[in-house]
Amino acid sequence: MRVHSWIVLALAGTAAAQEAEPEGVAFFEKKIRPVLVSRCYKCHSLEAEKVKGGLLADSREGLLKGGNSGPAIVPGKPEESLLVKAIRGTDDDMKMPPKGELLPAHEVADFEAWIRRGAPDPRKADVRAASRALGLPTWDRPASPCLSSRVPYGTPITAPLLARIDAAEQLLRTLGFRELRVRAHDTLARIEVPPADLPRLVEPAVRSRVTSELRALGFLHVTLDLLGFRSGSLNEGVVENTKGPAASPRAPRVR
Ligand code: HEC
Repeated sequence: MRVHSWIVLALAGTAAAQEAEPEGVAFFEKKIRPVLVSRCYKCHSLEAEKVKGGLLADSREGLLKGGNSGPAIVPGKPEESLLVKAIRGTDDDMKMPPKGELLPAHEVADFEAWIRRGAPDPRKADVRAASRALGLPTWDRPASPCLSSRVPYGTPITAPLLARIDAAEQLLRTLGFRELRVRAHDTLARIEVPPADLPRLVEPAVRSRVTSELRALGFLHVTLDLLGFRSGSLNEGVVENTKGPAASPRAPRVR
């Protein structure tokens, strides 16, 4: 146990830790993102009329880089994080939000806890901004917003590609799947659902609808990942991508 927590601590703040720490991401989605969106984005995001203090709070990169005074967060160290100082409101020079009510104490505590655990944050500014600019309704959807995790590193992200992935995931949602990913390896779609949902996906009616609609969207191969839904497979994508073309050996075709 002890060793385990050390490993988690050591990894905190790296992309690998974020992928490997679904609980941290869930905490972010539940406690942190809604507060940032409702209380900070107005002045600290790409959608702000004018970005204040040079700080973008709508991506992890933005918070790490910080604004005119330097990094807004230091993962693992709430006491050294300017953001924490600002939302505590104890410093007269810097109270955030500057107008209206300060955050309630429990929300401040959530930010402290989130930074202490390494500030896990799945937001990716570039893809988000691109999706938004392209008018995709998914650009800021909580919990599963970042379509970049569906595309292996090195693959250019284009509007048609994002739209195709989006449509494929929408279809699966319509069919009642809640946790899912459709990863696009070129023209191969690799569907991930939790293992418990695997049988339902291969029921004849569901299977034929999924395969025909995904093929209509432009996927030539429609595959089901037997490993099931997981958040680490973006990292595996690096390996897959360097190994060669789309088809991964463990993603058999279901046609
Ligand atoms: C109404 C606009 C507005 C809102 C809403 C707002 N801020 Fe700010 N923020 C500012 C302004 C203006 C500055 C620059 C202040 C200065 O330079 O003295 C700033 C600066 C900051 C800075 C310091 C940036 C730097 O490097 O100098 C942090 C950190 C910060 N805000 C965090 C937040 C957080 C977190 C929230 C949400 C809880 C928030 N702000 C909401 C206007 C806003």
